[in-house]
Amino acid sequence: MGRLAQRPDHPALPILTSNTCPTILWQSLHAKKHSQLSKLSKDDDKQYIADMMGRKHVQKILKDLLKQRTTAPQKKYGDFLDVVLDELQSGRALLDENFLVDTVAGFIFAGVALTPTTLTAGMKFLTDSPNVVEALSEEHDTILKNRDETQPTITWEEFKTMKFTDQVINEILRLSSNGPGIIRQALKDVQYNGYTIPAGWVVMISPMSVHLNPDIFEDPLTFNPWRWQEENANSLMKHFMPFGDGKRHCMGANFTKFQIAMFLHTLVTKYRWKEIKRGETFRIADLAFPQDYHIKLLPRS
Ligand code: HEM
Repeated sequence: MGRLAQRPDHPALPILTSNTCPTILWQSLHAKKHSQLSKLSKDDDKQYIADMMGRKHVQKILKDLLKQRTTAPQKKYGDFLDVVLDELQSGRALLDENFLVDTVAGFIFAGVALTPTTLTAGMKFLTDSPNVVEALSEEHDTILKNRDETQPTITWEEFKTMKFTDQVINEILRLSSNGPGIIRQALKDVQYNGYTIPAGWVVMISPMSVHLNPDIFEDPLTFNPWRWQEENANSLMKHFMPFGDGKRHCMGANFTKFQIAMFLHTLVTKYRWKEIKRGETFRIADLAFPQDYHIKLLPRS
């Protein structure tokens, strides 16, 4: 994980330096969703402290689990903690226990918070765009039609044919922009567009503001997966950063896209759905559902 420095204007709030796991950032940013970072209320402080205690709690659970497993190393569970334990006991571990435990906590957080939030946004966009559901269903019905009956589960080859699904996923990620900010620290004075970013300053790039730039994404608030068709995709990709960019690009990006594709495959081939209640959204640094979003799944007729 990255180094944490203290913010001069708010000693309780660490600044995240360039190589910081974004999940820590999420924990703190999500706590502050309704306020600006620089104007924290007492409630925000309490929420922030509660979040940090929650994080410590998860770390403790993971450390206890590791300890338990160390006492019976011959028993294997076939999960990622086994890999972590093997690494720690290998005698050539590059990472220490604290780092690894924090990473696993980060994976858990990303898996239970970011992907489901993206899927919630996706459900909302799809509900409002029956033409997209139709095109998506066509793609997945074709996969089912061509499926070898001896191979009942989805295959890698089938996944690779999901061209429209990939466009839908990009569009969901563009509009939901679940990563509220990408953090970098200027290591030296940086000149950008006539401005100087002084060395040591922390810069937060907002993917949402890039994803909603009308000079790049025509009619940016419209959910339009067709904008990602092959002929446009390359130029749009340069401005697409749901998973960040550069050296710290999200490690779970491909896994997440795969997971969403599997979700969409099951959704459109087996179900239809209707809205039950809520689903209002608002945008700050990301797309938020202040009162959740409830749908009812119905078997596809
Ligand atoms: C919709 C889901 C997700 C979104 C929107 C997302 C977004 C991001 C963003 C914006 C970054 C920061 C990149 C940067 O600083 O340039 C990041 C980093 C990271 N993400 Fe994700 N992520 C998601 C899911 C996941 C999942 C499921 C995992 C793990 C299972 C994961 C693991 C990581 C890790 C380990 C990093 C740190 C990489 C590094 O610093 O080298 N993410 N993610």
